[in-house]
Amino acid sequence: MKKETSIDWGNLGFGYIKADYNFISYYKDGKWDDGNLREDDKVTISQGSTCLHYGQQCFEGLKAFKHKDGSVGLFRPFENAKRMNNSAKRIMMPEISEDFFVEACKKVVKANGRFVPPYGSGATLYLRPYIIGIGDNIGVSPAKEYIFGIFVMPVGPYFKGGMSPVNFITSDYDRAAPNGTGSVKVGGNYAGSLLPHHEAVEKGYADCIYLDPLTHTKIEEVGAANFFGITKDNKFVTPKSNSILPSITRKSLLYISKEYLGMEVIEREVYIDKLSEFIEAGACGTAAVISPIGAIMHKNNKHVFYSETKVGEVTMKLYNTFIGIQTGDLKAPDGWI
Ligand code: COI
Repeated sequence: MKKETSIDWGNLGFGYIKADYNFISYYKDGKWDDGNLREDDKVTISQGSTCLHYGQQCFEGLKAFKHKDGSVGLFRPFENAKRMNNSAKRIMMPEISEDFFVEACKKVVKANGRFVPPYGSGATLYLRPYIIGIGDNIGVSPAKEYIFGIFVMPVGPYFKGGMSPVNFITSDYDRAAPNGTGSVKVGGNYAGSLLPHHEAVEKGYADCIYLDPLTHTKIEEVGAANFFGITKDNKFVTPKSNSILPSITRKSLLYISKEYLGMEVIEREVYIDKLSEFIEAGACGTAAVISPIGAIMHKNNKHVFYSETKVGEVTMKLYNTFIGIQTGDLKAPDGWI
């Protein structure tokens, strides 16, 4: 038995930490092998691998939570399995059975028990599953061999503020093209976001807001997270578009707003010049959880939502309910944990 870690759970950011074990499975001759846990955190692949040149790879992000009774729960892992298969299909990679995906997640969490942050610490265990095209290739065509891997690490808040408001600025760059790959979790979307992110941070913002690529009038994404707003008449609104990444947190918040908080929920266009319809706003995602948006800067106009320093009442309620469900304090809908 390995010793307890010396991790300072309360002061974790969102960064790589090598855990004890990771999971890896190979796809060859048209099938996935059973996979195994290993200690080495390096992968050795051919320099001709399609993931290195043509971005034939996708990834996921999900979390495991320590509950009050000491048990550990994975939050909605089947949703991640489905989304990973959608990503894989879009870039011609083989799918993985949902049960295999979830069993592999369980195995890797169990093997890394000492890295699961304690209940109430504010930190969680983040799982990063991925599929990469490997093998000796050079033509622009799908690889014949693949790796499906999962590694884990304990994480704290993604945005520095955690549950305190941060500000964003709209970007002139586009994150995704209409009918492109914006709705799947492929690395290219994120490579393209590095420069806009960097430029936003240089200007003093937490990240940038991407507008719809066609008209640049509607909000699509908040950096690597989704957007939501709370209207003055207490409706939960989140953008509808075929080029945003369908966040599982967003899907969960739509459900929670309606079923737990009795709010009306709407997926529709969110116009950047009509932000005054919202009294509160936030970014949501697995890594970001809920990050309240203090203000959005667009074309030299700053729109402040609830406050740049205080968290709005509805956002707080959403956060507490969401975390309560994830940590087992509140009853979760069937199949969520
Ligand atoms: C997540 O929320 O899990 C993400 O994948 C966002 C980011 C860390 C890339």
